[in-house]
Amino acid sequence: MRSFIEGIPKAELHLHLEGTLEPDLKFQLAERNAVEMPYASEAEMRAAYDFDDLPSFLAMYYEGMSVLLTEDDFFDLAYTYFQKASSQNVVYAEVFFDPQAHTSRGIGFETVISGIHRAQLEAEATLGIRSQLIMCFLRDMSAESAMETLEAADGYREWIIGVGLDSDERDNPPIKFVDVFAAARQRGYRLTMHCDVDQANSTDHIWQCLNDIGVDRIDHGVNALDDPELVTEIRTRGLGLTVCPISNSYVTDGLKAAEIRRMLELELTVCVNSDDPAYFPGYMNENLQAVQEAADLSQPQMTQLVGNAFAASWLPDDEKTDYRNQVTAYAETHVR
Ligand code: HPA
Ligand code: ZN
Repeated sequence: MRSFIEGIPKAELHLHLEGTLEPDLKFQLAERNAVEMPYASEAEMRAAYDFDDLPSFLAMYYEGMSVLLTEDDFFDLAYTYFQKASSQNVVYAEVFFDPQAHTSRGIGFETVISGIHRAQLEAEATLGIRSQLIMCFLRDMSAESAMETLEAADGYREWIIGVGLDSDERDNPPIKFVDVFAAARQRGYRLTMHCDVDQANSTDHIWQCLNDIGVDRIDHGVNALDDPELVTEIRTRGLGLTVCPISNSYVTDGLKAAEIRRMLELELTVCVNSDDPAYFPGYMNENLQAVQEAADLSQPQMTQLVGNAFAASWLPDDEKTDYRNQVTAYAETHVR
């Protein structure tokens, strides 16, 4: 099963580029930019990664970004991720970035997006990995700040496929951003939002995503299982759920592998993703492997999980079909 997972062509839909900043690249960029690091070594830095919930993770995540200053830094960050993903047979990725985490430090929106965009082009040309970009708003900042960010992106509309919402969910419900997401929809962006796992008012927030925002996808969303009506509504609308098992094991109480299995049984379009792999160690293959082992998933169930990511993607239909056929063909020729 391990080699089946490694070889199958995969898509990743829930990946924060800033969350791929591994300690070695962080140190390299710190040196290049003469940024002083609060840690003497990579090992010391890793040892400081002792978060056990979303806020304690986010504190480390934002601190790490201090080394990202120039367009080349954002290029290196993104290209390094694409190399790693491609080495695991990820053939398509929809990746998040957090512009406000940089503009709030005085880095230009253009610097951030130009570096990432150049890495996408280079990765497609040299590695053959295709990608699209999703701009996330930080939900612990104001709706006005999100709206300014949406407007800043107007000059780059064709470089961004959709918008999302991340950072600290506590007291920052989806409804806070109802106008911003309506304005984003009007501009033609696809919409997604984080519904982090085991948060206060989790199911209320998921209902808001459906009824007030009209999302096209849900990031995490495991707590939908707590409400059978919610499950029915998500299935009826065919909404994808991008679950991140190793991430969940760090900030909640486990991999949620049984829940992923349950979602498959309920015929929800659930898929597995790596979220912030530099902080929650494990890229796509490690996440799929962890779920397979913990929930004892069969080969057809693994194929379904991987196929679901393409189904839930924001690719044009013909490309989606192409990739899904590749997954099916792989599974048919690798029956154990
Ligand atoms: N949840 C909320 N905010 C985040 C995450 C996440 O999984 N990753 C990076 N920012
Ligand atoms: Zn996330």
